[in-house]
Amino acid sequence: MYKIFNTTQEASHYTAQRLLSRVQSNPCSNLGLATGSTMEPVYRRLLECLQREPIDLSQLTTFNLDEYIGLGGGHAQSYRYYMHQHLFDKLSIPEERINLPDGKAMDVDRACNSYSEAIRAAGGLDLQLLGIGSNGHIGFNEPYTCFSSRTHVIELSEQTRLDNGRFFADKKEVPTRAITMGILDILEAKEIVLLATGVKKAAIMADLFHSTVDEALPASALKQHPNVTIVLDCEAASLLPRHVFNEAVGLGEGVRL
Ligand code: F6R
Repeated sequence: MYKIFNTTQEASHYTAQRLLSRVQSNPCSNLGLATGSTMEPVYRRLLECLQREPIDLSQLTTFNLDEYIGLGGGHAQSYRYYMHQHLFDKLSIPEERINLPDGKAMDVDRACNSYSEAIRAAGGLDLQLLGIGSNGHIGFNEPYTCFSSRTHVIELSEQTRLDNGRFFADKKEVPTRAITMGILDILEAKEIVLLATGVKKAAIMADLFHSTVDEALPASALKQHPNVTIVLDCEAASLLPRHVFNEAVGLGEGVRL
């Protein structure tokens, strides 16, 4: 289902509300979280709402999607650092309930296996939050990642390294590899919310709309899932067919993926 909002702020607020509602209805939820610039206003909104109306987060468990290999939690561009800066340091989720892939793991294959295993042992993800790369990646599952993949090591594409170079002082510093939750891990979430904002995401959102289920476009795996909401602002939705845009804007109901 598509939900299209006039502004990035509205789309982000709606997404934050979906996370909050999930935790309010079940304080023991397992949330799959994402990083990246798209999520910053979502986490800001989440914090605002929780400040206004605190809820008990002591039973909440989080699993992040991905982490660069070679960057420890003290590195300002690691996803662990991002999550602490934007969310975890301002909330009272018990440290032992916060899970991120370990970019510094000595035995990386073992770390990958245990990550997927930990998600399953926790009972699976109740809600997975996703952004999308300009090449259609979800998590760091780059084009042609197998749709039955579990947490694994991925060679980052040139496109992704170029896109993410904006966060690093020098583009050459962008790591070449990452650990990412697999597509099957993502698809096993009970509910998925994908947020894309800004004109830079318009082309990939149109490609996704027109695509069949195809490993060349990782996000197309979501078309196999029964409970996905794609949340867009008007810019990200601007290249969708007019009728989809018109039906989903403001209403957001009834438009199939
Ligand atoms: C990050 C992640 C990625 C990003 C995607 C978009 O944890 O899973 O898939 O969501 O690269 O990043 P931004 O939001 O920076 O455009």
